[in-house]
Amino acid sequence: MTDKKIDKETGVETTGHNWDGIEELNNPLPRWWLWTLYACIVWAIGYTILYPAWPMISGATPGMLGYSTRANVANDITAHEAKNAALTADLVAADLPTLAPDDPLHRYAVARGASVFRAQCSQCHGSGAAGAKGYPNLLDDDWLWGGDVASIATTIDHGIRNDTDPDARWSQMPAFGDILSREEITSVVAYVGSLSAPAEDPGLADAGATVFSDNCAACHGDNAQGNRDMGAPDLTDAIWLYGGDTATLTETVTKARFGVMPAWGQRLTDADVAAVAVYVHGLGGGE
Ligand code: HEC
Ligand code: HEC
Repeated sequence: MTDKKIDKETGVETTGHNWDGIEELNNPLPRWWLWTLYACIVWAIGYTILYPAWPMISGATPGMLGYSTRANVANDITAHEAKNAALTADLVAADLPTLAPDDPLHRYAVARGASVFRAQCSQCHGSGAAGAKGYPNLLDDDWLWGGDVASIATTIDHGIRNDTDPDARWSQMPAFGDILSREEITSVVAYVGSLSAPAEDPGLADAGATVFSDNCAACHGDNAQGNRDMGAPDLTDAIWLYGGDTATLTETVTKARFGVMPAWGQRLTDADVAAVAVYVHGLGGGE
């Protein structure tokens, strides 16, 4: 080329670009750099042929090796289940109440139940199982429906007040706002409050005792200590599912509650139900 410009100092051809007298030398790319680039291109082509790569309308090109992280997880799960198959079968067949705490099967159930609990139960009952308003604490020995391992397993298997399982635990406290007068509700609330704390107005609480025996004792028991056949809580122990202050008690009695728990037998395997029952039973309140 006729307009080839050579830099006088270095003898290297320039690109012809010139910034305020500073000229750009037209040096070739370094060899090592160029070969690295070529290697990367070859590697990338190989990769897109062998592995899932190009996004298509539904999913990506699968790649010739058939590699899939999803399939790997499925394989790992299958392998894990195969390894535990014997223990799983033993757990399903086991008579839970007779399972001794030092039995290896018991230890397996507790470990398995703990992971089921974290995944399925903690969102309602709390990660430490201490519960929340409306969701019972599973650590204490105050049980609505029974605290022996068989009762706990039944509660978990069939759930509570759900429409999906005909064997669900069921009972329904009426909304007394439609049944009792405002005065009767005020007095029965005062009576219930007086069972676990000093009465603010003993006369009112006394009047409430009559309302209680007429309307509430059928479920909560004559002495208000609850009835597990009805899932009716003990009202004397200062352990509250919804709250023991006057405002909350008035709301509970006026509108009633309707705590619902899913039937886990429909969602979990028999072994998972048994495991989480053993786990809950072992949390401290088990009978
Ligand atoms: C959607 C929320 C929810 C989830 C999830 C849930 N529960 Fe419950 N559970 C409840 C409610 C609400 C009650 C109380 C119902 C009532 O008032 O009787 C309850 C009650 C219970 C009881 C009865 C306690 C007693 O005092 O008798 C047990 C046991 C129990 N749950 C265990 C479990 C286990 C185990 C899991 C996980 C497999 C689980 N729950 C998941 C809402 C839930
Ligand atoms: C048909 C049975 C039944 C009758 C009758 C009944 N209850 Fe209940 N009660 C229950 C059940 C079951 C619960 C559990 C809460 C739920 O429904 O989720 C409950 C819960 C409660 C609670 C909540 C306790 C807590 O820990 O927060 C209070 C308070 C209560 N009842 C008071 C009364 C009073 C007062 C009466 C009478 C005016 C009454 N109940 C009549 C069944 C009954």
